[in-house]
Amino acid sequence: MKNIKIKNKKEIEKMKYVGKLTAKVLNMIENYIVPGITTEKIDKICHNYIINKQKAIPACLGYNGFPKSTCISINDTVCHGIPNNIDKLKDGDIVNIDISIIKNEYHGDSSRMFFVGNVKKKYIHLCKTTKKSMYKAIESIKPNISISTIGSKIEEYISKKKFSIVEEYCGHGIGKMFHEEPYVLHYKNKNTNIILKEGMTFTIEPMINYGKKEVYTCKDGWTVKTKDKSYSAQYEHTVLVTKKGCKILTL
Ligand code: MF3
Ligand code: CO
Repeated sequence: MKNIKIKNKKEIEKMKYVGKLTAKVLNMIENYIVPGITTEKIDKICHNYIINKQKAIPACLGYNGFPKSTCISINDTVCHGIPNNIDKLKDGDIVNIDISIIKNEYHGDSSRMFFVGNVKKKYIHLCKTTKKSMYKAIESIKPNISISTIGSKIEEYISKKKFSIVEEYCGHGIGKMFHEEPYVLHYKNKNTNIILKEGMTFTIEPMINYGKKEVYTCKDGWTVKTKDKSYSAQYEHTVLVTKKGCKILTL
């Protein structure tokens, strides 16, 4: 517990501000999600908006050597897709855009799914279910509960569906650091010793696969895909634990 930062009033104001900016990038990019656009173009538009309009910093760019400002993950790509000038969105795709930015030294982190043209019902259902699992977890958050409640809520909901939860990646504390303690598992776990306290800020970002849970990392060192080539969805919000519950910072 001792490494988990409790944010003070000033820090919380900064987290709220950067959270709003993060959400704005995702809203801004929505109209560009059409068949034919390359992921590189989407990344460029986000990059320029973050730098020029928001006077903020894209947190992914250069993070552990990541080469772009956003992660764009299409269909069977689970997360950390690298924007490039070859991959074009096409009718029926589901795509996750993950935006992480820094403003006034504090980080915001959020991602959501976008539908390209006409998406099959089963994939819309996958995305809606993933989003709902995140909200089930968020609704459970309040001070003095174990952090493991979050994973339980997600698994409780997802286990009723035929989908699976990716186990290799987790939510994370966030603030001055992009990734800090606590780490937030999205499945049932026994980390009952970490208790949520008012002033903690962290992300919840479940990745849910249509098929099996197994994933692998591509040769580029970043792109994560499902082993069985089934489609995958992810939603992510940054949240603040408040006196009575929690507040989503990236709305
Ligand atoms: N945005 C991702 C997260 O939710 C992190 C991506 S790391 C990067 O934590 F280097 F790929 F950008
Ligand atoms: Co994150």
